[in-house]
Amino acid sequence: MSETRTAIVTGAARGIGRGVAQRLAADGLQVAVLDLDEAACADTVEAITSAGGTAIAVGANVADADSVEAAVERVASELGAPTVLINNAGIIRDNLLFKMTVDDWDAVMGVHLRGAFNMTKAVQKHMTEAKFGRIVNLSSTSALGNRGQANYSAAKAGIQGFTKTLAIELGKFGVTANAIAPGFIQTDMTAATAERIGVDFDDFIKFSAEQIPVQRVGQPEDIAHTASFLVSEGAGFVSGQVIYVAGGPKD
Ligand SMILES: NC(=O)c1ccc[n+]([C@@H]2O[C@H](COP(=O)([O-])OP(=O)(O)OC[C@H]3O[C@@H](n4cnc5c(N)ncnc54)[C@H](O)[C@@H]3O)[C@@H](O)[C@H]2O)c1
Repeated sequence: MSETRTAIVTGAARGIGRGVAQRLAADGLQVAVLDLDEAACADTVEAITSAGGTAIAVGANVADADSVEAAVERVASELGAPTVLINNAGIIRDNLLFKMTVDDWDAVMGVHLRGAFNMTKAVQKHMTEAKFGRIVNLSSTSALGNRGQANYSAAKAGIQGFTKTLAIELGKFGVTANAIAPGFIQTDMTAATAERIGVDFDDFIKFSAEQIPVQRVGQPEDIAHTASFLVSEGAGFVSGQVIYVAGGPKD
């Protein structure tokens, strides 16, 4: 590693984002732990700093361009130019199409697509100036279609097209862009899905694991491991890819 890199991980107060933030810090990066509520980032920051890493908590709404611009400038001044970006913040507003509201549609598009766009636009100038950048966007196996997720699957498929375009536009500046498409990962998000469909979370995990070739559900560490590879200095020739991390083949 030629220098200490600064990473921003969105939605890092919990779940996959927290796992990725902790892993990148363990890899030696300085990490901005960004989430809607700055106070909610404290546990992730504490986990990183108590393990000897460097992290700050940043409150921002990725769907809001002004909030994002201010957050990115704060990271640049407090930690240094962010050259690693993990667009992880996400929400679900699941429902069958006939019951899905325009608000359900807009909310999901706002966080996943507008959010990733806002963050990447704000960070790219730091990457292009540094002639180095690593962008990792969280897609999902739902990009291939999933009952009750017309909004979310469209957003996660959109993330894949966005990622490939970033790879094409930013490649000449030493910036790579890749997407990770997780399958079932055990987090509050999948717990909320179990609750919505009225299934006990442990039963939901057990049933889901039986459908997965490796016979277990994923953990945030599984995604963190893949993100660690994609942001590494040595991964500079891997760009525009979608890696399904789902315990089996998906496409
Ligand atoms: N859990 C899974 O099985 C799974 C599978 C595929 C993809 N994903 C994707 O991985 C990412 C993380 O999922 P998770 O399971 O850890 O979810 P989670 O609900 O546990 O965590 C999401 C985090 O994003 C934050 N967030 C939401 N809206 C935000 C906004 N507007 N601005 C800033 N932060 C915001 C939340 O506060 C929360 O801390 C999401 O993009 C999700 O779609 C998850």
